Amino acid sequence: MSQILTATAKSDLGATQCLVRKSDLTQIRFEDFTLKPDDLQPDQLLVKIDSFAFTANNITYAELGDKMAYWGFFPPGGRTADAEDWGVIPVWGFADVVASRHPTIAVDERIYGFFPMATHLVMTPGKLTDSSFVESAPHRAKLPPAYNSYLRITTEPTFAEPFEPYQALLRPLFVTSFLIDDFLADEQFFGAQTVLLSSASAKTAFGLAHLLHRRKNITVVGLTSAGNRAFVEGLGCYDRVVTYDEISARPVEDAVYVDFAGSADLRRAIHEHYGDALKYSCAVGLSHREMNPPGKGLPGPKPLFFFAPDRIVKRSRDWGRGGLEGKLNTAWNDFIPVLQHWIRVIRSNGRSAVEAAYRATLAGKIRPDEGHILSLRD
Ligand SMILES: NC(=O)c1ccc[n+]([C@@H]2O[C@H](COP(=O)([O-])OP(=O)(O)OC[C@H]3O[C@@H](n4cnc5c(N)ncnc54)[C@H](OP(=O)(O)O)[C@@H]3O)[C@@H](O)[C@H]2O)c1
Repeated sequence: MSQILTATAKSDLGATQCLVRKSDLTQIRFEDFTLKPDDLQPDQLLVKIDSFAFTANNITYAELGDKMAYWGFFPPGGRTADAEDWGVIPVWGFADVVASRHPTIAVDERIYGFFPMATHLVMTPGKLTDSSFVESAPHRAKLPPAYNSYLRITTEPTFAEPFEPYQALLRPLFVTSFLIDDFLADEQFFGAQTVLLSSASAKTAFGLAHLLHRRKNITVVGLTSAGNRAFVEGLGCYDRVVTYDEISARPVEDAVYVDFAGSADLRRAIHEHYGDALKYSCAVGLSHREMNPPGKGLPGPKPLFFFAPDRIVKRSRDWGRGGLEGKLNTAWNDFIPVLQHWIRVIRSNGRSAVEAAYRATLAGKIRPDEGHILSLRD
């Protein structure tokens, strides 16, 4: 077994992780701990997390931490008496290998994927190709496979360095946008020609709007708050933009509702206004941070949850893993050029910056044209 430890990683490393209280997401703290590269098991890696994106999607991971196992990805370890009450929110980002006992993955390789809000992670690569590997730590075996796949950037030419922030910020969300567009087309839009998207200013929503806008005979209606209306109108991928308080004035026509907001009041207003003209109700997100059930006596179709990792499993079966990736890459490469006009990347480093960005995202105070890239490294 090769041992390719870097000089810097031979000695103990100081690491930090960011924890939030599971029952009260306004409570956040940072915890320092020591990692010993000498403790790496054969085939394991120690990676240093360079940067990660933070959006409403990460808040939803925390909101659904128990229900959908998001707390299970990066267990914080029992360093304090109340350790069980705290969790580490998963984020999408980039990391560099600083120590390796893996025969193929060398120090300095750069990796993209699902990481903890932390400075470091010990990883156990399993199935490996030139461009990717699957994390095979036992505690992750039962979690959705889409989150366990990591890209090896050094060998992956589609990851140009200037686009890294967009990759972290939007690629995982765009996968969902792509899969919903594909799902709706696969279902012939349930006979409707209008698609209503709530939280139209959200990145996952406007990624979907961008794809739907390219389809013939589909009208894309963005529903948003008054404060985000100008941003949504400026995107140019919504045929119409309607603020939440204007919905009752919309003409009733056959429509599909794709819900990124998750607001029970909004859902009821749409279902009551459209009634039987609502052909499908697709529950995707919780950006408005309400955990209310669909509601009894809701007119129209029962809202059904769309979980992107499940659809990935289906389309990987239908098209093969390479087939899905090929279609996704084509769509993504078309999206990147417009993105740079829509999103201004803001980089911040350090605990107080991470805490500030976390709190602003939690409170819904991030401007929709901002994309936050954070780091806890020195
Ligand atoms: N089911 C799945 O597989 C899946 C996959 C990907 C994403 N999602 C979900 O889609 C949602 C959007 O995620 P994203 O990362 O794309 O969002 P984002 O870009 O960070 O969205 C920001 C927008 O969400 C609304 N918002 C955010 N926080 C709010 C708050 N506290 N109060 C009221 N409105 C708030 C605002 O939009 P408006 O003013 O326009 O309402 C805001 O402009 C998340 O819930 C995410 O988990 C689900």
